[in-house]
Amino acid sequence: MQILIISGSPRRQGNSDLLCDEFARGAREKGHSVEKINLQEKEIRSCLACYACFQTGACVQSDDMADVLAKICAAQVLVLASPTYFLTMSGQLKVMIDRLLPKWQDLGGKDVYIIVTGHDGKSGLLRVGDDLAAIWTSLGAHVRQIIYGDHVWKKGEVLGTPAMEEAYAAGQCVGHTP
Ligand SMILES: Cc1cc2nc3c(=O)[nH]c(=O)nc-3n(C[C@H](O)[C@H](O)[C@H](O)COP(=O)(O)O)c2cc1C
Repeated sequence: MQILIISGSPRRQGNSDLLCDEFARGAREKGHSVEKINLQEKEIRSCLACYACFQTGACVQSDDMADVLAKICAAQVLVLASPTYFLTMSGQLKVMIDRLLPKWQDLGGKDVYIIVTGHDGKSGLLRVGDDLAAIWTSLGAHVRQIIYGDHVWKKGEVLGTPAMEEAYAAGQCVGHTP
């Protein structure tokens, strides 16, 4: 399957990014095609709410989102990863989600995996997972799994935790989730 991983932390090789790579490792071992996008490396400006895309199907802004959106549309499986920032998802990920507007009616049917990290316990991260799951469910996607990397703060603290095994196993199970 065609898998697109969207890593929403500004920290390369941070905790959520490491979980993305572990998911990718599991999926590649099963023969899936995997691409990862680090949102921090992309220029994606905020939605202008001009609704021009409702007429044309495309955003009036010229930045990296056209390319990212084409990849999202082409993927059968999406992995969305975010650190918890003040109880919600990262700004990078939210800005990208708003820019789905030109194609919001074309995103149904995909399998979606969500990765959330934070220094809090799982109860403090649930809101992020729930919000992301609600967004993608409303778009008609199937949210297959939410992986929580809890109690991780500094870069790399997620290494050796059960979340790494969970991410790897989720990557291996792509296409087999009932
Ligand atoms: C601006 C900011 C706000 C944060 N707010 C929270 C929070 O509300 N809850 C939490 O558990 N962790 C919070 N954290 C900690 C990060 O979620 C945590 O360090 C996470 O592992 C970062 O993921 P990353 O390594 O993928 O960047 C915050 C970190 C930053 C920089």
